[in-house]
Amino acid sequence: MNNWKRTVPCGTMRAADTGTELVLNGWVHRQRDFGDLVFIDLRDRTGLVQIVVDKKDAPELVATANSLRSEFVVSVRGTVRPRRAGTENPNLLTGEIEIAATGLEILNASKGLPFQVSDEEQMRLVDETLRVKYRYLDLRRSKMYSMLEMRHRAVKRIRDFMDGRDFLEIETPIFTKSTPEGARDYVVPYRLEPGLFYALPQSPQQYKQLLMVAGCDRYFQIARCFRDEALRADRQPEFSQLDVEMSFVEQEDVLELIEAMTVDVVEHISDKQLPQPFPRLTYDEAIRRYGSDKPDMRFGLELIDLAESITGTEFVVFRSALDNGGQVKAVRYPGGGALSRKETDDLSNFCKEFGAKGLATIAVTEPTPAGVKSAISKFMTDEQMQAILTALRAEKGDLICIIADPKPSVVANVLSRLRLEIGRRCGLRNPDVLQFALITDFPLVQWSEEGHRWEAEHHPFTMPYEEHLPYFDTDPSKIRAQCYDLVCNGQESGSGSIRIHRPDIQAKVFDLLGISREKQQERFGHILEAFSYGAPPHGGFATGIDRLLMNLLDEPNIREVIAFPKMGFGYDPLMDSPSTIDDAQLQEIGLRVVPRKKTDRTE
Ligand code: AMO
Ligand code: AMP
Repeated sequence: MNNWKRTVPCGTMRAADTGTELVLNGWVHRQRDFGDLVFIDLRDRTGLVQIVVDKKDAPELVATANSLRSEFVVSVRGTVRPRRAGTENPNLLTGEIEIAATGLEILNASKGLPFQVSDEEQMRLVDETLRVKYRYLDLRRSKMYSMLEMRHRAVKRIRDFMDGRDFLEIETPIFTKSTPEGARDYVVPYRLEPGLFYALPQSPQQYKQLLMVAGCDRYFQIARCFRDEALRADRQPEFSQLDVEMSFVEQEDVLELIEAMTVDVVEHISDKQLPQPFPRLTYDEAIRRYGSDKPDMRFGLELIDLAESITGTEFVVFRSALDNGGQVKAVRYPGGGALSRKETDDLSNFCKEFGAKGLATIAVTEPTPAGVKSAISKFMTDEQMQAILTALRAEKGDLICIIADPKPSVVANVLSRLRLEIGRRCGLRNPDVLQFALITDFPLVQWSEEGHRWEAEHHPFTMPYEEHLPYFDTDPSKIRAQCYDLVCNGQESGSGSIRIHRPDIQAKVFDLLGISREKQQERFGHILEAFSYGAPPHGGFATGIDRLLMNLLDEPNIREVIAFPKMGFGYDPLMDSPSTIDDAQLQEIGLRVVPRKKTDRTE
């Protein structure tokens, strides 16, 4: 780099720097070659700047400038000068100036690229697997640099905030034992004793509780977690959490911390609107009003129960739902009254995809029974129709969408999805708003039809409300827990609970989950023993860093906020992993492979 080392980064020069002599290092973003006059957009992490190589001023540089190709790494010596009037570029921070080159050195060449990183239009069309295979090129785009920077700022701010509140950041092991969070474990074979395995942590849950037993009082960690579960747009097999645990606290203390931390970070690094205080809903209320435990509360259009409005209905669909312990509920679709027959059918099919048996609609031409168009009018009295319109606060032009089902969970699921779809169509899901909410009082357990047993809704260390302890023996579905979620714009972004610190309650929960005393000892003996040595009352939470970034950057896909993400089935096209290991290695760890059908990992 003799004499070619940069004096300033590329994106930093402004009109006020006119006359400055400098050296720049960076990548050739674009080169426009007019023979005797060559323009080079030079790029580094900080931005772009225009270089001019002019035969009149520096004839010895022209040949080198002509030979440049995209993504060559170069060093440029030159002087800052204003651009000619009329050629300024308002889209660039350096758009008022250019660098008149007096020296040019190629530091490294580049092969032809698999995609043109300088062309954002084209990049949108590039296959994502290819982008991830060449992530080190994909990351050269300013959009990706901004993402990495935003992520860095968020994590730094979190650390500063937690430090300010007297939390200690403590690292916990990656090679550990299964911590149940509801997914499969990734396991690591133990070489010295074939047949034994470490599990990678699904979260640092047990360690952070042990740290409370240790008296650490306030712990946090930006923790890597590993879960072998079906991937979705907001799930990766490895991801990062802000993981927190506190001693001598109640639920309220943890909720206060979650909200204060979230507000501090978002306000510091983002311009988005952040309504405060965060609304709080119990789980039951969220399900009743929105049909979901992660409601998008940027808009209203709440679900309305019609049982009262249609009392005594003869309409068999509604009647049989109500008689069989089910529900009839509705959501208002502003402007939906104008949908064509085909569009209404499509909406009905949308509902059927999520398990509805049908969708009943009422198009409102006037908010009176006489002013509706509906296939179910003939089954309804005028009073019932009026009661429905009143309950929904129907307005002219609306479409009332009604779902009836003997299973309340079907009604909730279908209407919550329909509500989101209506919100999307009506432009109510404003991307400039981050509408957080805290959902509390989750059920402790839910019945698994598949496994024919009770499963923890959160994890087995969650504290039930003491007054609900009698339900253990009568109706466990009624037990509510001191357990909470942070949601944002319809997505779960964090979760936590007050923990069980009393061995008798912990044993009751394990019993309910069908974990035998023997299994309890085998899997959790260490933590149960720890709790018998003076465990303080404690609780905590974890929020997904990746999910936070998705919200901050409006990215529907988690891969866009991760430097090196995995594709479907956990495939990493960059490293081409997972991959085989050689026989000697297998032998060393005492494993033999039983071949199975190959999955198409590129999907
Ligand atoms: P939970 O399992 O709810 O709780 O996870 C907490 C948060 O982590 C994020 N998250 C994920 N992000 C990306 N990809 C995934 N596969 C993924 N899975 C979870 C979500 C989620 O809200 N130990 C408890 C916390 C506690 O009780 O303190 C736990 O891990 O944003
Ligand atoms: P039918 O008498 O079967 O033609 O149904 C009359 C109306 O009720 C139609 O508009 C159906 O789409 C609607 N419908 C059928 N099943 C349901 C259901 N489970 N919930 C709401 N509406 C339904």
